[in-house]
Amino acid sequence: MGKVTVITSGKGGTGKSTITAGLGAALVRRGDRVLLIDCDAGMRGIDLMLGVSGELVFDVADIINGNCPPTSAIYPCKTVPDLYILPAPQNVRDEISPSIMRRLTKILVRYYDHILIDSPAGIGAGFRSASAPANSAILVANAEPLSLRGCDKVRHKLRHSQISDIRLIINRFNERRFRRMDVYSDLDSVIDEAGARLLGIVPEDNAAAALSQKGNPIEGRMKAAYAFDRIAARMDGRDVELVIE
Ligand SMILES: Nc1ncnc2c1ncn2[C@@H]1O[C@H](COP(=O)(O)OP(=O)(O)O)[C@@H](O)[C@H]1O
Ligand SMILES: [Mg+2]
Repeated sequence: MGKVTVITSGKGGTGKSTITAGLGAALVRRGDRVLLIDCDAGMRGIDLMLGVSGELVFDVADIINGNCPPTSAIYPCKTVPDLYILPAPQNVRDEISPSIMRRLTKILVRYYDHILIDSPAGIGAGFRSASAPANSAILVANAEPLSLRGCDKVRHKLRHSQISDIRLIINRFNERRFRRMDVYSDLDSVIDEAGARLLGIVPEDNAAAALSQKGNPIEGRMKAAYAFDRIAARMDGRDVELVIE
């Protein structure tokens, strides 16, 4: 039975979708079979990052409405074998309810080692649906006050939905910018403010982000790929030392 993890954030644009796609590919490199569920109805993006957006016919709403069987709305990533995506509906009005998400995920989880659910930012209806079927959560934040601001609200809601395994990824980390900003004395203060245990740090990597936006997986000798590999190993229970690039 696979593990279901929701990828969340307080504020938008912290890198949830980039992390969902990058971490998915890293888990596959470890030998896992991975499904990414995009729950950002009306704003889907994972399909673009996996290079399958031109092929989409069905999405999660079509499964629920009986337009297709689940397998027809699950697309394989062309460049990463064993990485699959279930796209979000194109319209917010087709958003899936928490109870249906729970029922659907319960069936799908039998076929994958990991399901990663890309949530919209904040604590609205999309977040409630994305987090409903999860047994663990990743909070994605950047090391700056505006990004860390909503973390406590998200954490509170996750705990309320019985998700106690909440871990933090600090994304787009750039040590020079962090020092120059001079808001936090060190990374421990950032982790304290987010209020969750650290799962990993992903460096600012503009080359990787640009590739990802063009539908290429983050892999090979990219700084972000190394970070994803370490995070994936920790998710699989390995003890991997913390590296700040
Ligand atoms: N580690 C990173 N280094 C550089 N740019 C990044 C990184 N992670 C994300 N980005 C960029 O930040 C922007 C927001 O990322 P995205 O994954 O769409 O965030 P979200 O899903 O949280 O809204 C995108 O332009 C993306 O390419
Ligand atoms: Mg997103």
